[in-house]
Amino acid sequence: MPELMVNIDHVATLREARGIHYPDPVFAAGIAEMAGATGIIIHLREDRRHIKDRDLRILRDVVRTKLNLEMAATPEMTKIAASTKPDMITLVPEKRQELTTEGGLDVIKFAGKIEKVIAAVKKRGIAVSLFIDPVEPQIRASAGIGADMIEIHTGSYAEARTARMTKRELDKVIRAAVLGKELGLGVNAGHGLHYHNAREIAVIPQIDELSIGHSIIARALFVGLDRAVKDMIEVIKK
Ligand code: PXP
Repeated sequence: MPELMVNIDHVATLREARGIHYPDPVFAAGIAEMAGATGIIIHLREDRRHIKDRDLRILRDVVRTKLNLEMAATPEMTKIAASTKPDMITLVPEKRQELTTEGGLDVIKFAGKIEKVIAAVKKRGIAVSLFIDPVEPQIRASAGIGADMIEIHTGSYAEARTARMTKRELDKVIRAAVLGKELGLGVNAGHGLHYHNAREIAVIPQIDELSIGHSIIARALFVGLDRAVKDMIEVIKK
């Protein structure tokens, strides 16, 4: 069964709705870890719309499990990663107008740029994951370029509207996970996973970690973060 990495961006989203100092994502990280999360994920976006540089600095200090920094493959972010040293980074595509990360990274098109980031951060002992769609050439390109891991984008699976489409998208994720492992990559998955659709992804034996944010933070509003994290662990470990 995969491990649960909890994305706490949306604690910061709530804070930034008022531009004040609470709720603090740093507290959320501690509670999620105590509830059994095996890692904490934050996305430091170029526009700093939720997570701020201050959050990254403090979280690097206090997170005792594993800190995964999602970031765009830019020189600014590479510098920040190299100096704060999260345990791992996940490279994601980033567009200013999007509500959330919309598609996987195009590792083939942006190979040069991505390769530079990988080389720079790996020198500092930071592992690198690439967030990609479950598409064979992207997986092969990720292995070829020196990534340690891939994160398979499960958005199309999560958004599929019929049972047939869901099955088709799930099959793509399964094939991607199998190929990733065959190529020697660590295989993670995430985006759009919630309490009613994460199980099917969690049972794929090749998947090492699930990256889940919105559904956990949303549930936490009603039951508290400790319970929301434990409920998700129950879903994926059952
Ligand atoms: N993985 C990546 C690369 C993401 O960008 C996000 C969204 O921040 C997630 C996973 C988590 O998605 P969700 O919030 O839908 O669980």
